[in-house]
Amino acid sequence: MINIAVLSGDGVGPEVTEQARIALEAIGRRFGHRFEFVSAAIGGRAIDLYGVPLPEETLSLCSSSDAILLGAVGGPEWDEVPPRLRPEQGLLALRRGLRLYANIRPVRAPDRSFPASPLKPDVVAGTNMIFVRELTGGIYFGEKRLDTIGENGSTEERAMDVSTYSTTEIAAVVRIAGRLARARNGLVTSVDKANVLETSRLWRRVATAIMSSEFPDVRLEHRLVDSFSMDIILRPSTFDVIVTENMFGDILTDEASVLAGSIGVLPSASLGDADAKGRTRGLYEPIHGSAPTIAGCDVANPVGAILSAAMLLRHSLDLEEEAALLERAVSDVMDSGVMTLDLIEPGGRPCNTSQFGREVASAVTHAQAC
Ligand code: IPM
Ligand code: MG
Repeated sequence: MINIAVLSGDGVGPEVTEQARIALEAIGRRFGHRFEFVSAAIGGRAIDLYGVPLPEETLSLCSSSDAILLGAVGGPEWDEVPPRLRPEQGLLALRRGLRLYANIRPVRAPDRSFPASPLKPDVVAGTNMIFVRELTGGIYFGEKRLDTIGENGSTEERAMDVSTYSTTEIAAVVRIAGRLARARNGLVTSVDKANVLETSRLWRRVATAIMSSEFPDVRLEHRLVDSFSMDIILRPSTFDVIVTENMFGDILTDEASVLAGSIGVLPSASLGDADAKGRTRGLYEPIHGSAPTIAGCDVANPVGAILSAAMLLRHSLDLEEEAALLERAVSDVMDSGVMTLDLIEPGGRPCNTSQFGREVASAVTHAQAC
């Protein structure tokens, strides 16, 4: 029995996570695995039900599960709650609480080009990169303050967000990038802002030291985040593994999603250290947000969520054949022209979220073994 915690969250979270669950059920039927799914609240829904974005019960369910599927958190309903109780804080506390310090975000060119893409197919062709985003440090987790600094009743305010990185935090994600690159095309691109930031200068030094001592067979290049953000669109096929700090990784992966066709199709795995049995309890979520304007309309793209389930099979359960089959089922469905609203040509007929999920489940059932 494989225990999966399901935190579907807010906005479109529940509808896309449901398709990921259906896909896993189909994999289970085909390969003889039994999944037990237990749901718990996070984000805005948890605030509404329990007054906090990450209830104790949710964290303890996650700690005792084999892996966690998450949808999305946040929405305009909770814009006025105090900052430390915002829905996003639930997700950050979960990442931090489970020590999931490395966020893996693969970005591939789609097999067929999408008419809705603003990019030329020959620029996108051959894109196959994987981001390793540091996930539990940096400006997201440093000290935050908001002070009134004006005198004599002035309302002048000053806000502060501190970014820190330690050698150990940097080394941990650089090692993951090195290992991934070794099994791929042997190139790690480390992205920073070392011409301005002290954290980035340390980042660069640590990356150089770890890569030269532990991964002499892997090439390392350092890039500044500003020009890199341009090159990712100009020359996407020249990158392999990209390692970067928390906020740069957040921004760059949304940018990179345009290469894959839509932010709706990108999955992610948040991983920490393996346990004594070599297993990693990961958190698997699409990189997109809660998309409140289309929530409940059955039009969101579930591909990011379903491919996150494939990553769950691979990284937490060590079920590579199952993961590859699910990924192939998704691309077969897309290749057959079945696409959601975000990917179709103007005037085309979009497929609904739930219908897409059924198509993938059926492709899982009927696909030839890899
Ligand atoms: C992401 C999201 C989150 C982040 C938000 C919801 C806190 O944008 O996973 O990329 O900034 O990490
Ligand atoms: Mg983001």
